Amino acid sequence: MAQKRLRLGVNIDHVATVRNARGGAYPDPIRAAKLAEEAGADGITAHLREDRRHITDADIDGLVAALSVPLNFEMAATEEMQAIALRHKPHAVCIVPEKREERTTEGGLEVAREENKLAHFIAPLRDVGCRVSIFIAADRKQIEAAHRIGAEVIELHTGAYCDAHAEGDFETRDRELASLREMSAFADSLGLEVHAGHGLTYDCVQPIAAFPEVRELNIGHFLIGEAIFRGMTPAIAEMRRLMDEAR
Ligand code: PXP
Repeated sequence: MAQKRLRLGVNIDHVATVRNARGGAYPDPIRAAKLAEEAGADGITAHLREDRRHITDADIDGLVAALSVPLNFEMAATEEMQAIALRHKPHAVCIVPEKREERTTEGGLEVAREENKLAHFIAPLRDVGCRVSIFIAADRKQIEAAHRIGAEVIELHTGAYCDAHAEGDFETRDRELASLREMSAFADSLGLEVHAGHGLTYDCVQPIAAFPEVRELNIGHFLIGEAIFRGMTPAIAEMRRLMDEAR
């Protein structure tokens, strides 16, 4: 049976990191987002951090005004961010941990311990039509909690898998991959849409792209780095090709 097409969300945060290194106006993350769109990105992801270390409020305003593809707005579960999301009503809101105490040891958001708080937090976002995604580790307990609080999407944290791959620790890599595979199927069986991301590169994307339940990958740091060498359009085109080949 043919698999459903895998969407690519391009995260443009680190264009803003380079811009902010000099405090000026370039490179412009909105221009990068438009180029990514032309190069075949199905969506643009941007994380407005509480400390505004890369993306700024003005960048979010600019993205909302300029994009033709959906915006996936990543944010911490704070009142300030909730108000910004409610004002812009982006297509998707992905709740991510920023503080150490918000994350599980594997790196994703600690949903199970904060279930009540998060359920109340995401309800108004869902009410205005945002698709709410929760960035979590491949952990059954966290997936069940994400489902109970009413999230429609989970994004599985692929960081540990990618790190193990890069370090040549293949035992850990294969264990992480097996657990990502099993938990993708489990989340899908609960009716959650499954996304994945963090640390993905040309070298490690294909085994994740091959999971039939995964519908979207969000990739940033590697692609922005690769764009320095080959340009944004070819860098994205190669990721797209690898993803399609893996399906
Ligand atoms: N998905 C989420 C939820 C993220 O927070 C990030 C950025 O840290 C990414 C995907 C993209 O990760 P990377 O920049 O390593 O590709």
